[in-house]
Amino acid sequence: MAGTVCIHDLYFRRLMDGDAIATRVRTLGEEVSRDYAGKRLLCLAILNGSFIFAADLLRVISMEVDICFIRLSSYSGADSTGKVTTIFGLTENIAQRHVLLIEDIIDTGKTLHELLPVLHEKQPASLQVATFLSKPGARRYPIEASYTGFTIPDQFVVGYGLDYNGLGRNLPDLYIRTTEEPQE
Ligand code: XMP
Ligand code: MG
Repeated sequence: MAGTVCIHDLYFRRLMDGDAIATRVRTLGEEVSRDYAGKRLLCLAILNGSFIFAADLLRVISMEVDICFIRLSSYSGADSTGKVTTIFGLTENIAQRHVLLIEDIIDTGKTLHELLPVLHEKQPASLQVATFLSKPGARRYPIEASYTGFTIPDQFVVGYGLDYNGLGRNLPDLYIRTTEEPQE
């Protein structure tokens, strides 16, 4: 796979390859399997970005696991409380379940800052987060995941499920935004 790719109007350089990602995801899967040994886990994977990470993580988790794919939409509420997170596709009752939320990337932390209280209200037995990526330098809300694949600089990334305006999700490697054009 090329070292630099052009998507729409932007260039991205390869940050890590699919083999390094697979190795790290395997380790995360082993940690999850150890921590939840003997329990039945319910994974909630947030679409679209986490679909590849979720598929790979699930295949290296060894105990019983259910998966549910959810989609989020935020809108301004009619009252002064502001943003309300709506969850689409949550077909499982999460009360008394051990829930692992699977996210592609934690950037400012806003998405999870809004989503986690909504899920906690449904009274799961436990609620943890597994994220493929984290950008600590971009954080505006105090959100940390229990399982983080990689921490990365505060630059836009694509590949391994993440997109730039719809494209790049199918790239097996992870690419980060660069202003340098390829030398060819
Ligand atoms: P927050 O700021 O709420 O962001 O933590 C989480 C969501 O923003 C998207 N996001 C990205 N998507 N490359 C992407 O393809 C990125 O570098 C990036 N940074 C944030 C993503 O949808 C994530 O769930
Ligand atoms: Mg996302």
